[in-house]
Amino acid sequence: MSADLPFTKPALGVCYYPEHWPESQWTEDAHAMADLGLSWVRIGEFAWSRIQPKPDQFDWDWLDRAIETLGQAGLNVIMSTPTATPPRWMIDKHPDMLAQTEDGQRRKFGSRRHYCFSHLGYREQSAQIAKILGKRFGQNRHIQAWQIDNEYGCHDTVISFSPSARSAFQNWLEAKYRTIDVLNSSWGNVFWSMEYQRFDQVDLPNQTVTEPNPAHAMDFRRFASDEVMAFNQAQAHALRQYTDRPLIHNYMGRITEFDHFEVGQDLDIASWDSYPLGFLEDRSDRDDAFKTRFMRQGDPDFQAFHHDLYRSVGKGRWWVMEQQPGSVNWAPFNPKPLPGMVRLWTWEAMAHGAEVVSYFRWRQAPFAQEQMHSGLQLPNGDWADVQKEIRQISEELAEIETPQTSDAEVAIIFDYASSWAWDIQPQGRNFDYFRLVYAFYCGLRCLGVSVDIIAPNTHEFGNRKLVIIPGLFSWNQTLLSALESFGGQVLLGPRSGSKTENFQIPAKLPPDLDAFDIKVTSVESLRSSDRKDLINSGHIEAWLEHVETSEDVVETTSEGDPVLIRNDRLNYLTAWPDEQAMERILADLAAKSGVETSKLQSGYRRRNWGHYTLHMNYNAFPIEFKNNNKTVQLGAAELALIHNETGNRLF
Ligand code: GAL
Repeated sequence: MSADLPFTKPALGVCYYPEHWPESQWTEDAHAMADLGLSWVRIGEFAWSRIQPKPDQFDWDWLDRAIETLGQAGLNVIMSTPTATPPRWMIDKHPDMLAQTEDGQRRKFGSRRHYCFSHLGYREQSAQIAKILGKRFGQNRHIQAWQIDNEYGCHDTVISFSPSARSAFQNWLEAKYRTIDVLNSSWGNVFWSMEYQRFDQVDLPNQTVTEPNPAHAMDFRRFASDEVMAFNQAQAHALRQYTDRPLIHNYMGRITEFDHFEVGQDLDIASWDSYPLGFLEDRSDRDDAFKTRFMRQGDPDFQAFHHDLYRSVGKGRWWVMEQQPGSVNWAPFNPKPLPGMVRLWTWEAMAHGAEVVSYFRWRQAPFAQEQMHSGLQLPNGDWADVQKEIRQISEELAEIETPQTSDAEVAIIFDYASSWAWDIQPQGRNFDYFRLVYAFYCGLRCLGVSVDIIAPNTHEFGNRKLVIIPGLFSWNQTLLSALESFGGQVLLGPRSGSKTENFQIPAKLPPDLDAFDIKVTSVESLRSSDRKDLINSGHIEAWLEHVETSEDVVETTSEGDPVLIRNDRLNYLTAWPDEQAMERILADLAAKSGVETSKLQSGYRRRNWGHYTLHMNYNAFPIEFKNNNKTVQLGAAELALIHNETGNRLF
């Protein structure tokens, strides 16, 4: 159970490291935070070596005083468990706790996230420090929320090929299959004489001569995800014995190696760390021209996608735990945001339902790895330019009644297991699950549609009008029932329902649905240069399935291959549409579903927010658009909050 939080509207916060600064500076810092309009401060997530400098020594005084100082200034503290940075003595105690890479190399001490999720000794130590912190601070009046660990999966850290992972995987397999014969037949191990006699013979799927059995690799990915869940759960259980404050984890952008919906089951609030410019440079598939155009603004859809995803991971409750405030240090290029962008990102998050947006970090560190990462203050304590934007947001927040978010009319299913499956078996170098789902999401955003992203085991689709299920690895019973009872339109594919749970081709052939007479008889992956024209506008790329069907074929390639197939409610795409075709197909389907769309000009986005709409200009130049017959002008990186009925612009 979690306590209600002491706020009625979105709030601002910051990440602070008291252990980085002389104590004489804390009071001034805390008051400056409050004065800026911040009401939350996150601390402690990397402070283990100062909390417990030796296995048998705890230093609490400094932390007690830091919490008190922040609390006295009126700030709510988010206390963190420091388990992303096990201190050096921990490695002496558990030398085999370090994660191992695919080629068997041990990861070293000297940065962070060096632990293996499967190491039970370290898992126990993590639960223990969570318990000790919970005991000491669980009822502290200044601590109003807890963060567990920091960014699971960041720096490629979910999958570990360590001896601990190997034996845990064998146990996991035995619990799942019970007998080795069931494992052999489920995986199809008769192929290439891969049959096992005992579970302890099954190795991790690395360093095989050619690819391992996809069913083996898939179970390993499921196992690795379960290990993250178990690690998080151990800490959540430990904390819940001592506190009723909400438990949170800060997820990252475009990390799919573990099932966030599963981890989210053990937490009260989801949060994520939003670094729009870092992500554009570092983890986006956009081309160079796009990156150049948006280098100081970020991809106009990437933040929104994650806001919508994590709203659902948090079962409606979500925050931005770390918001980029200026340039970062970790992307190939690290430009500064355009003036106004930090304000735009902040309001955008709140319009997607963020309860708190917290900036990373209070003051730029003059030392160590992140000395080139900006903060709200320069290393010498002077303000960075961005403080003006934050002050402005706090003033605006004080004046505006902010509405709740409600369900969108359109939902897209995001399934982590599908991402693992198509990593394992892309079948074409340019097939990527995240990119596929994101293409549908961007298509809808460019049509001005607000979207929910939902889990693959959603029980019902509510009042939604259109549900999109791209690239789904395998059906589950809950989803099939939700589909059956849903009255709206559904868009499936490509690749949806193309495997069984055991990574085999279904007996009925994909998409494996009784209510839809389509059989995928063969598939082709296409080189990026091999785009095929559609009879209407646009092309398909990367992927084309050939089918037998008695249903209506509503769109084909110019060579006559069926691309869009339909019965009254179900629609199936056999291919990956390019941007132009995607928007056209989505606009038609939205019209059929009763969802209003309008093609937005490039770089302009909007988001429904109760009786308001938030209009955002992600361009580096001014634009204008019509709203209720009035012309609205937006400067570069500017935004407008407009009342839907009155047309009044609040800012
Ligand atoms: C996040 C991380 C922070 C900090 C920040 C820098 O991924 O949680 O600790 O490293 O990136 O941008």
